[in-house]
Amino acid sequence: MTDAFKVKIKDRSLLERFPFPFQGDSYRYSNNSRALVPPVCIDVTPEYREEVLEKRRLLEQYPERTFRSFPHTLAAQWEIAGMLMHEMSHVYPRYFRLEKEGRLWTFQNKLIHEEHKFIFGESSTLPYEPLDFIGRHVQEDLIYLQQRDGDLYMDAGQLCFPANWSLAFDLGMTYLQFHSPVPIYSESGLAQKVLGFLLRMEAGKPWTRLNWTINVGDRLDTSPEEFGDWGKNKYLLHLGNVGQEVRLRTEDQRLFRLSGNNGILFSIHTHLLPLEMLVQNQVWAERFYKVLEDLPDPLAEYKGFISFKPLLLEYLQDHIGARK
Ligand code: HEM
Repeated sequence: MTDAFKVKIKDRSLLERFPFPFQGDSYRYSNNSRALVPPVCIDVTPEYREEVLEKRRLLEQYPERTFRSFPHTLAAQWEIAGMLMHEMSHVYPRYFRLEKEGRLWTFQNKLIHEEHKFIFGESSTLPYEPLDFIGRHVQEDLIYLQQRDGDLYMDAGQLCFPANWSLAFDLGMTYLQFHSPVPIYSESGLAQKVLGFLLRMEAGKPWTRLNWTINVGDRLDTSPEEFGDWGKNKYLLHLGNVGQEVRLRTEDQRLFRLSGNNGILFSIHTHLLPLEMLVQNQVWAERFYKVLEDLPDPLAEYKGFISFKPLLLEYLQDHIGARK
């Protein structure tokens, strides 16, 4: 099989499994959370190896911005690590295995041929803090929010693939504080309402929502700290390369209330779909065109593509044969 053929097969599966974020022809911020069925946090996709290795590279190279935690989160981190190891070994027994002899646990990752033995609850027996450890075995970014005084605080996280926000900057902030850069969301009172909904979340009843933005190029790490590297790429776009270079970026976000600690696990699985593939699905191409045409400027500005929105519309129009 030639390499070109392999790429085609991978690409076709990407179009089939990509979480397209639009339900209709218009998009506004809303509490678009829905019950997560089945109640599973981790998704293993064909990009697993590539993305987990990229996460590990970023964690080694930029430890300050990719993993942060306060010491008081350690018990919750253990709860999250335990919960995910159980889930992964049950949902993907071919890829992961968990054996327990009392507090001596053995976690095996067959996808990257690793085995770790440790005493559950004793951090000195793991090579990293528990959230950092388990995050190195999943494609998702993992954020822990602690609930106290009727509020949610971003108190720990492993974040390798941010859509232009900084864990180092947001650490310790409340839900309303770290959402304050989002236009309309805070001023409209929606953020406050969503906070109320999150504070009432119950263990065993997880939620999920999709968020989206636009990515130029295929790098998942679009952190503000690296803006100098990726931010300028949008100025190189033209009609001839926009289909290849621009990707619809969807974040599959999942929310779990922990049962043993007062807090929430927020996971983010990021998917990228090049526009040239997206337009192979005519329903998606037309819907995306209408969503963009109708999108309020403050949202396009916040998401960073207002300067090339006309180019996106022109490209999509060409591919849906809707040139007016
Ligand atoms: C509870 C876990 C959550 C965390 C940790 C979280 C975190 C964040 C962060 C860090 C940002 C980027 C802000 C910036 O520009 O600096 C963001 C954006 C946003 N969040 Fe959340 N969020 C959470 C849940 C939610 C939920 C449940 C909603 C439901 C409406 C929501 C709505 C939004 C919206 C609308 C944006 C703007 C995204 C965009 O337009 O690209 N968030 N969130």
